[in-house]
Amino acid sequence: MAMISASVLNGDLAHLAETAQTVRESGADALHYDVMDGMFVDNLSFGLPVLSSLRPCTDLPVDVHLMIQNPLKFISRFVKAGADLLSFHIESSSDTVQTLRAIQEAGIPAGIAVSPDTPVSVLNPLLPLLRPQDFILLMTVYPGLGGQAFLPQVLPKIAELRQMLRAADISAHIQVDGGINDRTGAQCREAGADYLVAGSYLLGAEDPAEAVRLLRG
Ligand code: DX5
Ligand code: ZN
Repeated sequence: MAMISASVLNGDLAHLAETAQTVRESGADALHYDVMDGMFVDNLSFGLPVLSSLRPCTDLPVDVHLMIQNPLKFISRFVKAGADLLSFHIESSSDTVQTLRAIQEAGIPAGIAVSPDTPVSVLNPLLPLLRPQDFILLMTVYPGLGGQAFLPQVLPKIAELRQMLRAADISAHIQVDGGINDRTGAQCREAGADYLVAGSYLLGAEDPAEAVRLLRG
């Protein structure tokens, strides 16, 4: 059964605490919080002060996805603001190993995010650094916007990464993010993903709890 993280990016941001409550009641495992800096992606979302305000409003883990140019500079501040899981992009300008270590040393699960055009082979030297609680986030849309269509060309990358992890006997998770619904979620699970992020599908569902059940498989 896959774990589910609900992205609040396309929710009603004037009522984030209520959205967090909806996510809680849906039975999702975590709340996915997308940070964009207008440089790494061509969009802006929310950052540290909003996370600090949201943190006491939910007892769900907050899964922070940094789509920012210099994640290393901000790791300790996001941890302090309440991130319970923290992922950053391998395509960012921060040193990947240093950034990964900074998150691990903070004592929370660390994720390395990979955009659709980056091959998973770049992860080979990094996999031995992953602990069982850490994860690779394979983007199934180009980062920067919620509500985009799933990119099926990422499916073979999920299968390839699952195979790489198996061969190296590493039990880190594979998270997928972007355009995930009951159908694409099932395809990702079949390919080897065990952690699904869903935004518009989950929060737009008439019955979010049913959406979570379908996503889990
Ligand atoms: C895209 C974000 C995703 C997005 C998911 O840049 O990283 O987390 O909000 O939203 P949906 O599920 O609507 O594609
Ligand atoms: Zn995301």
